[in-house]
Amino acid sequence: MKHHPQDNRHNVSLAGENFDWKLKVATEADVDPAVEALSGHMNDRQRAVFRDKLQRYVRKSGRELIVAVRGVQTLGLVCVIAQAQFPPSFTEQQASQLRNFGCGTQLLVHPSSRKQGVGGSLLAHAERWAHENGLAGFWIATHRQADWYRTHFGYQEIHRIEDKGVEKILMSKSFK
Ligand SMILES: CC(C)(COP(=O)(O)OP(=O)(O)OC[C@H]1O[C@@H](n2cnc3c(N)ncnc32)[C@H](O)[C@@H]1OP(=O)(O)O)[C@@H](O)C(=O)NCCC(=O)NCCS
Repeated sequence: MKHHPQDNRHNVSLAGENFDWKLKVATEADVDPAVEALSGHMNDRQRAVFRDKLQRYVRKSGRELIVAVRGVQTLGLVCVIAQAQFPPSFTEQQASQLRNFGCGTQLLVHPSSRKQGVGGSLLAHAERWAHENGLAGFWIATHRQADWYRTHFGYQEIHRIEDKGVEKILMSKSFK
């Protein structure tokens, strides 16, 4: 049985305006609304893979699915995992740098809710989850958002991989 800490309410105030949404650790009941809201750009097969992935994050220990919601509407999500597999191309030294780091995957905000701080709040919450679980840092693989992680959150590039024909940049940050 997974432990679900009480929801955290985030009232984010940026540029003099108030935005109000809730970040919460998702349960099984949050998966279908999240898939419904965030899979508009996916075909049926991709949507099924996405649903399976979210369900795994809800059910298995050492992982969490965090969702951003406004009322019944899902605005975005991020998956976090304590022990993710490293890419096969990693050297021993790269793997040892990230040992005991948490990993974020699938950070996604609905296009109509972007540029309002939702993605940043999700990432900050994911990092906090890793920190509170005794992990030493956090890493993510990104196709286009390396500068966002670098500029706003202090991540550094550690490696590049090719994933299904797409180049991804692995970014990491230590909590020390
Ligand atoms: C990357 C992604 C998650 C960011 O989500 P987001 O909710 O737009 O993120 P934020 O709002 O926190 O930050 C985005 C930008 O908006 C700005 N911003 C935040 N709140 C703002 C506000 N109230 N007014 C104006 N700008 C704001 C941030 O400063 C940031 O600026 P920058 O892009 O110029 O550096 C989102 O674009 C997305 O889902 N992209 C597609 C999937 C993807 O690439 N995921 C990452 C995989 S690793």
